[in-house]
Amino acid sequence: MQHSVPDPRELLEIAVRVARPAAQTAARMRAEGVAVAATKSTATDVVTAADRAVERQVVEALRVLRPDDAVLGEEYGDGGVDTARVRWILDPIDGTVNYLYGIDYYAVSLAAEVDGEVVAGVVRDAARGDEWTATRGGGAFRAGRRLTGSTETDLGRALVATGFGYDRDRRAHQGRVLAGMISHVRDIRRTGSAALDLCRVAEGVMDAYYEKGLAAWDLAAGGLVAQEAGLLVSGLNGAPAGPDLVIAAPPALYRPLHDRLADLDAAGGP
Ligand code: IPD
Repeated sequence: MQHSVPDPRELLEIAVRVARPAAQTAARMRAEGVAVAATKSTATDVVTAADRAVERQVVEALRVLRPDDAVLGEEYGDGGVDTARVRWILDPIDGTVNYLYGIDYYAVSLAAEVDGEVVAGVVRDAARGDEWTATRGGGAFRAGRRLTGSTETDLGRALVATGFGYDRDRRAHQGRVLAGMISHVRDIRRTGSAALDLCRVAEGVMDAYYEKGLAAWDLAAGGLVAQEAGLLVSGLNGAPAGPDLVIAAPPALYRPLHDRLADLDAAGGP
């Protein structure tokens, strides 16, 4: 059965309504103490009880508000009707390693996709309560201010954020790419949360971002925020942003960053 498709603004309202208490749960559980509950792809890819609790809270809230939708979550995977036109994409805690170590830099990331396209998203910094939102075609915002990205035009003066996967061989490749990048930029930042990196770049607090190996839940909400702030968000050579590579940069930095990453075979390797 086909369901009518809601306005992205309505989906964003729901996303925000659900993400805020979820972020409070993450922060409260952090204050109560955190331990590794399990490991995933590798021994360093951890999941805490809070990742699971936050995901359950979001899924339950969405089930009440939007019972016919599907939900893809980092911890429990794909659930819901496969004919659903609306699918929610959730990272309950992006920045899990920061969370584990008590570094206050982690976020709840929740996006709504309609017919396979992300149309609304919110990233909520759970420790500080900062929040970035976007709707497709409607712009990106933080605290009522429209985001437009950095005005830097020279890659050599750009502060570039990136991240690394959990797999050893992938990291070795990412390390080689980094070695070829660091002398061509002002500096590199590895903050530990891809969703927050994308929002910070959307805001112009950092100039650009790239990373190989992002999952849909790392990218969905932050990627829309970056795009709606006017950044170019893609993979290499016209490919869409995805697991092979995500580049997010203002138009003036995009081409030199893209070409450097292409020379370094950033989308290659394991
Ligand atoms: C990770 C973070 C990190 C990025 C990794 C992601 P998680 O997500 O976003 O910054 O470099 O690629 O897997 O595991 O904290 O949800």
